[in-house]
Amino acid sequence: MSETVKVIIEGKEVELPVITGSEGEKALDISKLRGQTGYITLDHGFVNTGSCKSKITYLNGEEGILMYRGYPIEQLAEKSTFLEVAYLLIYGELPTKTQFEEFVNIITHHTMIHEDLKRLYDGFRKDSHPMAILSSMICTLSGYYAESMEPTNPRHQEISIHRLMAKTPTIAAYSFKKSIGQPFIYPNNSLSYVGNFLNMMFSVPTEKYEVDPVVEHALDLLLILHADHEQNCSASTVRLVGSSHANIYVSVASGINALWGPLHGGANQAVIEMLKQIHEEGGNVEKFVEKAKDKTSGFRLMGFGHRVYKNFDPRAVIIKKAADDVLNKLKIDDPLLDIAKKLEEIALSDEYFLEKKLYPNVDFYSGIIYKALRIPIEMFTVMFALGRMPGWIAQWKEMIEDNETKIGRPRQIFTGAVKRDFISIDKR
Ligand code: CMC
Repeated sequence: MSETVKVIIEGKEVELPVITGSEGEKALDISKLRGQTGYITLDHGFVNTGSCKSKITYLNGEEGILMYRGYPIEQLAEKSTFLEVAYLLIYGELPTKTQFEEFVNIITHHTMIHEDLKRLYDGFRKDSHPMAILSSMICTLSGYYAESMEPTNPRHQEISIHRLMAKTPTIAAYSFKKSIGQPFIYPNNSLSYVGNFLNMMFSVPTEKYEVDPVVEHALDLLLILHADHEQNCSASTVRLVGSSHANIYVSVASGINALWGPLHGGANQAVIEMLKQIHEEGGNVEKFVEKAKDKTSGFRLMGFGHRVYKNFDPRAVIIKKAADDVLNKLKIDDPLLDIAKKLEEIALSDEYFLEKKLYPNVDFYSGIIYKALRIPIEMFTVMFALGRMPGWIAQWKEMIEDNETKIGRPRQIFTGAVKRDFISIDKR
């Protein structure tokens, strides 16, 4: 017999079915609650609300576990590559050798963007934030592929997925070139996914550019670590927009906009800005920790805390080690890394942070690596978006193929004025 939970509302007993996930997580199915009782649930920020069943990513915030399709993030970080992880997330299984070769081949051969699309960059101010450019350009792809973006058509889905994976690095690199006034560099199909991105970012037509394998490997790792994180703000946005059967390009562009906020992906830029400020003000880490504890200051330690992780963020553990490795290999001595380590040490021995279970998150050390790889600070959140692309695609695909999906339409508790009569303007 399936498990249920009894709830008594205004003396009436209702039985709510219990849904159990494959890792033993439990949920109350309240889909019939309003019909049976007239009540809805209220859950600010969806802290206790599941929006879907998903087979993509499992995370356990108490134990610091993150798995893509059942594979622990630590193993993927050590043994896989970003494109292989992308395939895994999108299609559900690790690819065979042939499947992977086909996937890489098709992504590699769709990297160019339409020449007319390039001209759109001219309309942006030089100092436009690259996230604004990225989301606009991804949205604009829907103007170029109108004949092949019916969300429920499998062939259209497939082509759109390939286009998004292949063209996002090109669009992202061009947004950087625009900001520094350098010519756009066409994709080079002889390079790897990450190598090609680096080449489009840093090469110039006048000189030969060699992709540094240390940089290539570090970036690939960072993209793997950012590839998916189940129902976060941007993934939920992609699903919500897509649930109206809006096309995949605009759904993903909405996710990019959600990611931009400093409480989400924008935190990686905010972390470096904070570390710089601490450095410029003499490196007094304690002062900033005290300020973060003072509610009236409005200041938070960026890169600390997470809605789900209440122990440690497994991605932060991998990134911290990678930051040390990369800086050593590239022979970079960055005072911001020392400040970050000191900040982590002080915060992690402070009662306030311990009690509230605030630990460094994925964004705390990623900015230091990006900085070492010469990625400009405004591009940090774009790098996050590049990594998160397969996650958004996988979430969108799962949502559109799920028979249980309905258009996302939350309810509300109305707290405004009750019915009253209109008063004409001369009498107000
Ligand atoms: N510094 C100081 N205090 C904090 C911080 C922080 N970074 N984060 C949370 N708190 C306090 C907060 O003031 C609250 O205190 P109280 O219970 O006394 O009111 C308590 O901890 C719980 O915070 P919350 O805002 O209710 O928690 P949340 O789950 O809604 O927010 C968060 C999670 C990540 C938005 C938040 O911790 C934060 O703003 N962190 C800084 C921004 C950041 O690093 N974001 C990146 C998140 S990881 C990457 C990603 O997913 O995009």
